[in-house]
Amino acid sequence: MELHVLFALFSLLFSVSSANLASLLNSNGLAFFNCFANHSPASTTISSVVYAPFISSYDSIFQNTIQNLRFNSSMTQKPQYIIVPQRPAHVQAAIICSKNHSLQVRIRSGGHDYEGLSYKSKTPFVLIDLVKLRKVKVSLRKATAWVQAGATLGELYYQIAKETSTLGFPAGTCPTIGVGGHISGGGQGSLMRKYGLAADNVVDAILVKADGQIVNRATMD
Ligand SMILES: *[C@@H]1O[C@H](CO)[C@@H](O)[C@H](O)[C@H]1NC(C)=O
Ligand SMILES: *[C@@H]1O[C@H](CO)[C@@H](O)[C@H](O)[C@H]1NC(C)=O
Repeated sequence: MELHVLFALFSLLFSVSSANLASLLNSNGLAFFNCFANHSPASTTISSVVYAPFISSYDSIFQNTIQNLRFNSSMTQKPQYIIVPQRPAHVQAAIICSKNHSLQVRIRSGGHDYEGLSYKSKTPFVLIDLVKLRKVKVSLRKATAWVQAGATLGELYYQIAKETSTLGFPAGTCPTIGVGGHISGGGQGSLMRKYGLAADNVVDAILVKADGQIVNRATMD
């Protein structure tokens, strides 16, 4: 089975009201939140998508998918903001505003990432946490699937197996790997002799470019 990867690298309820929020942010922070709001769909509740360190749920969101407990420590450099996109437009806004504020970006698919590369950086950065973008949609007729980059391989395999016993996707053997990192790194697995790497079986992808534009195969042709 081939796979379409939806790579659209794509609420915290503030414990403070937005009036309080404004008073807690310095001018840089305020500009970042404003930038994000300006580039997001009007229906967005910003406080459910962007988290600053003084927000009470920031720590739990940050720690949520840290699998190497060495990095679950106060010594780990934390992101200036965590963005938890609920839709692709939030990924676009995150990219545009991080660039505008000269912040690097780390993208976390939530898999095992024992090296912590998806959520640590020595330079000031924004963490885009894909924990809410993990849908898997299988088309048996086309023998393809769209998977959002925040799903794990286990979730992908589970969804395929629920719908068919005759199709599979050639990728790694470890169910806790995040699809985004696995496929963008190649993706070896036990079916590779016959079907190649996971990346060999990607037939389309939706990507957010560095300028914030969304592209896929049709727009790149
Ligand atoms: C990570 O550290 C926090 C305290 O800083 C702790 O509450 C949490 O349980 C730790 N996570 C794990 C998975 O051990
Ligand atoms: C950031 O956004 C502001 C306001 O739109 C704009 O004036 C400025 O040029 C932008 N800076 C960069 C580096 O994109």
